[in-house]
Amino acid sequence: MAEVIADKTALVTGANRGIGFEIARQLAGLNINVLAGVRSEAKALSAGTAFEELGADVCPVVLDVADAARLPEVLGDIERRHGPIDILVNNAAILIDGPGGFSASLFDMTDDTFRRTWETNVLGPAAIIRTLLPGMIARGYGRVVNMSSLAGQLSGMSSGFPAYRISKAALNALTRIAAAEAARTDVKVNACSPGWVRTDMGGPEASRSPQKGAETAIWLATLPANGPTGGFFQDKASVPW
Ligand SMILES: NC(=O)c1ccc[n+]([C@@H]2O[C@H](COP(=O)([O-])OP(=O)(O)OC[C@H]3O[C@@H](n4cnc5c(N)ncnc54)[C@H](OP(=O)(O)O)[C@@H]3O)[C@@H](O)[C@H]2O)c1
Repeated sequence: MAEVIADKTALVTGANRGIGFEIARQLAGLNINVLAGVRSEAKALSAGTAFEELGADVCPVVLDVADAARLPEVLGDIERRHGPIDILVNNAAILIDGPGGFSASLFDMTDDTFRRTWETNVLGPAAIIRTLLPGMIARGYGRVVNMSSLAGQLSGMSSGFPAYRISKAALNALTRIAAAEAARTDVKVNACSPGWVRTDMGGPEASRSPQKGAETAIWLATLPANGPTGGFFQDKASVPW
């Protein structure tokens, strides 16, 4: 694996806290040049300090994924400053369904909740993929990991936090489409579920640590040329869509 990823550059969105922070920290430990996408200059400063305190060589970059219209320009600027992005982890997401959190009903879902969730969890990752994938294909190497959730599985679709569920089902579809666009190249696009993880989103009762939650994303971000593409994984094993 070390040969495959030497000198690669990775971008992890939403990397100032939670699973994204942990993915960025672990990728940096593999000698990958890691760019940690954060929403603002202030968050870039505090994230920079947090990574430094852990001895992780991670460079924060300002990237608000909800600002889809500006993403091509912002990403172009990031690539000019830091070089081409070889590995993309679309991690940033919001879960704002309410009232009732995980049990929020479809009948309480507002257009505003749906629109904001869609902008961050779907339009953002779609714009980032549309911007970065052509370069990866042209350079002949790329790894894209979309942080999804079992909440987005159509095969197990249920009620509760509907805007979030719909956004993750759409992210899974985006994964399949992007993987098909990159078929027969060494550009791999996969989705993963981290499990239920102790973060601000998962809450303190969640069963998994951020380290465990990052595991499958790290595996997919560093796949060798004979690794899978167009799949959905948890714990490094395929799960139904
Ligand atoms: N935790 C779980 O149990 C669980 C389960 C299944 C799937 N997931 C998925 O795993 C991923 C990470 O979740 P998490 O638990 O680490 O969530 P989290 O603790 O809520 O962290 C979310 C991260 O996304 C960032 N973010 C949100 N909107 C953004 C935007 N517009 N631009 C840039 N960054 C933005 C946040 O930044 P700010 O600090 O600026 O808000 C934060 O860094 C998500 O895709 C989530 O859906 C999590």
